[in-house]
Amino acid sequence: MSEDIQNGSGEDFPIHIRGLTNAFGDFVVHEDLDLDVRRGEILGVVGGSGTGKSVLMRSIIGLQMPRSGEVEVFGHNITEAEPDEEIGVRNRWGVLFQGGALFSTLTVAENVQVPLKQFYPELDQQLLDEIARYKVLLTGLPEEAASKYPSELSGGMKKRAGLARALALDPELLFLDEPTAGLDPIGGAKFDELTRELTDTLGLTVFLITHDLDTLYAICDRVAVLADKKVIAVGTIPELLENDHPWIQEYFNGPRARAATATHERGKALDKQGSEKA
Ligand SMILES: Nc1ncnc2c1ncn2[C@@H]1O[C@H](COP(=O)(O)OP(=O)(O)O)[C@@H](O)[C@H]1O
Ligand SMILES: [Mg+2]
Repeated sequence: MSEDIQNGSGEDFPIHIRGLTNAFGDFVVHEDLDLDVRRGEILGVVGGSGTGKSVLMRSIIGLQMPRSGEVEVFGHNITEAEPDEEIGVRNRWGVLFQGGALFSTLTVAENVQVPLKQFYPELDQQLLDEIARYKVLLTGLPEEAASKYPSELSGGMKKRAGLARALALDPELLFLDEPTAGLDPIGGAKFDELTRELTDTLGLTVFLITHDLDTLYAICDRVAVLADKKVIAVGTIPELLENDHPWIQEYFNGPRARAATATHERGKALDKQGSEKA
């Protein structure tokens, strides 16, 4: 354990996990897993399909009861939280689940209002409408999108609507599970930009599950790698490139990684040219 973490509080490290074991019957997904997420960072979480990225997220937000171990969010023990204590933390995070999962029979505005009504049943409809409108605009959707049903939206718009709902309670901590999956590269890049912008302007901490290398290069401060039932490494991409674990080498040094690096370097060069001209 680093000194940082020993001295740090639940506010410096919004997520603190020690010795986490998750299993379904005999099938062990995580074993003795440790992870700390720093306040204000976008932490990318990667790993092969089925390595337990979504299960890890679910155990952090209390939807998956671990077999053993300690999960703290803002210093509150999630696995042993008192009912009211748990609610005190639950409204400090927002979640965009894998696949987006908007309620198809509700409009975008009504979707955004679901968590608001759950946590603040006393809010009147006018205020609910105003908050929903604000969240819709915050995620870059046009105002008209608020009254549309999910089936009337493009894939990218649905993701933004899901993000608007995740931001409904003004969370400090945001969980995004494969947010750019299924989007074309341009749509994905725009969603990434939005995530970075909102993280910086709203002061969020983001737990971002992705397999999108472009996302990792473009917006993640650090990356955590899930393999062998654990988080085998956490660091910046240059730090991870030094790691000789075979999965990390294949992932970050394979042909797709080289293409993502090239795109990233080209983008930086163009930015530089642009700012020199300006
Ligand atoms: N509710 C469940 N019951 C049994 N097995 C599950 C359940 N949820 C997930 N799993 C299994 O746990 C493993 C990790 O799943 P998941 O976290 O969804 O993987 P991914 O890294 O792709 O998000 C998979 O093998 C999956 O089949
Ligand atoms: Mg998953």
